[in-house]
Amino acid sequence: MRTIEEQGHVFEEWLTPAEIARDVESVAQQISSDYADKEPLFVVVLNGAFVFAADLMRRVNTRCEVTFIRVSSYWGMATTGKLEFIVPLQQVVEGRDVIIVEDIVDTGLTIHQLKAYLRAEGAHSIRVATMLFKPCKLEYSDAKPDYIGHEISEEFVIGYGLDFDGFMRNLDAIYKVKEQK
Ligand code: IMP
Repeated sequence: MRTIEEQGHVFEEWLTPAEIARDVESVAQQISSDYADKEPLFVVVLNGAFVFAADLMRRVNTRCEVTFIRVSSYWGMATTGKLEFIVPLQQVVEGRDVIIVEDIVDTGLTIHQLKAYLRAEGAHSIRVATMLFKPCKLEYSDAKPDYIGHEISEEFVIGYGLDFDGFMRNLDAIYKVKEQK
């Protein structure tokens, strides 16, 4: 099993690239089937979701569009509980079937606030696709994702787009924090 060290923490490989690919394929199949007669707009939450979104979109066979939004609520391994819009939405969502694409849903604050925002902008429907979901941490019931790659307990994870203070997004697998050195 591969391990990696970052900022005094040891992380060990938890989902291999092949396991991630299977999860992505399963989410993509569900979306392709649910949106077969629609033209969804993927709203990708930067920065973390760009890796998952790139893989997911290429497996979805529905006619679709993609746009990006950037918010920030985390620093290090703890949430600040505050959502900041850093890159605003560039695309009109009024009347659109929106699929928010996230790397991980933790407390659900990001999704909760994004959904309220997209509703106010007139989205016709809003669903959430996430690579990872931490059900035990969820604080906002409306943020429960509709499409989930993999569930995880409360551990901190990095890789496949997920960062630790901006680094480690480039890892091809997902690593779980193991111990503090
Ligand atoms: P939420 O708003 O509490 O659901 O947090 C969502 C955001 O927190 C994600 O998009 C990530 O950027 C970040 N996050 C939550 N848990 C982790 C983790 O285990 N590793 C890296 N980032 C995380």
